[in-house]
Amino acid sequence: MINLNTTYLGLKLRSPLVVSASPLSRDIDGICRLEDAGASAVVLYSLFEEQLRQEEADLDYHLAVGTESFAESLTYFPQPSEFHTGPEGYLDHIRKAKASVRIPIIASLNGSTLGGWTKFAGEIERAGADAIECNIYYIPTDPKVSAADIEKTYFDILKAVKATVTIPVAIKLSPFFSNLSNMAHRLDEAGADALVLFNRFYQPDIDLEELEIRPNVLLSTPQALRLPLTWIGILFGRVKASLAATGGVHNAEDVVKLLMVGANVTMMCSSLMRHGVNHLRHVERELRDWMEEHEYESVAQMQGSMSQIKCPDPGAFERAQYMRAVKGMQHIHMAGWR
Ligand SMILES: Cc1cc2nc3c(=O)[nH]c(=O)nc-3n(C[C@H](O)[C@H](O)[C@H](O)COP(=O)(O)O)c2cc1C
Repeated sequence: MINLNTTYLGLKLRSPLVVSASPLSRDIDGICRLEDAGASAVVLYSLFEEQLRQEEADLDYHLAVGTESFAESLTYFPQPSEFHTGPEGYLDHIRKAKASVRIPIIASLNGSTLGGWTKFAGEIERAGADAIECNIYYIPTDPKVSAADIEKTYFDILKAVKATVTIPVAIKLSPFFSNLSNMAHRLDEAGADALVLFNRFYQPDIDLEELEIRPNVLLSTPQALRLPLTWIGILFGRVKASLAATGGVHNAEDVVKLLMVGANVTMMCSSLMRHGVNHLRHVERELRDWMEEHEYESVAQMQGSMSQIKCPDPGAFERAQYMRAVKGMQHIHMAGWR
């Protein structure tokens, strides 16, 4: 009998198949369907710092500051009607989700600056969420702000949220740091219960007819998997925090690879939006089949077996792999050219 159990954020989960923050959790019916299809936990779509600040009428100030430089900045921020729910509605959603399913519900707060909004984490805990995922989404554009200042914001936000709640706190972050290992290590020390790797930066497109920026999120391609695969393999065993992989998890083989490099859980969003919620059943069945065929009895047996924990210098290892990959490609291209 194959045992898919795993532990994430101190929560015992029946499998590593978790649904990441997305519109899939927009309504309660959707969350019930995710549970039925085998999701072992669901991360709710995010509530944004700006929504909380808007409640305190701070957004007006923010917008006014913006308008000094660009009239268009009034359209930077979405209107309240563009969000699924406001803060009260979000709490209500948590309560209803908790009353409707047995799997853990992880709420998501999305912010970029230290502020009063972090206190809302306490309300989220009281509404019954099993954990909080903080998505720190910040695109630094001011050349005078140093990397150290930016990094400090991450720790400040984490510490503020940790000081407000007793439930576990995960940090979802981007891969774009000079030394991600150092960030991971320091977030770990500051009390992060999990690292969710990685935040996908929305990259805008331009509508050439209308000459407008087009804000749309593209669903991921399988190539996206390589980034969490690389970094989880490096970080496994070097941080206490649980490790969640998000980005490019589309099938059971992706799940196997991520577990082998050391993920506690693998999160899915794009593949479920593309193929429907029942794709989860299919992934779980294929995961069981793969494990049976390769004589693995449990997820625990796989976790970290292909990580870099035993590698004394992961940096040198990565560089060596890189050189081999580039050399290999040169060979292929040369053959193609002849
Ligand atoms: C339509 C859409 C909405 C998303 N909304 C959120 C969100 O509210 N909060 C968040 O942290 N991530 C959000 N994400 C990011 C996903 O949770 C996930 O990390 C990312 O899409 C990579 O995983 P995937 O390859 O399985 O899609 C969203 C992604 C998509 C495609």
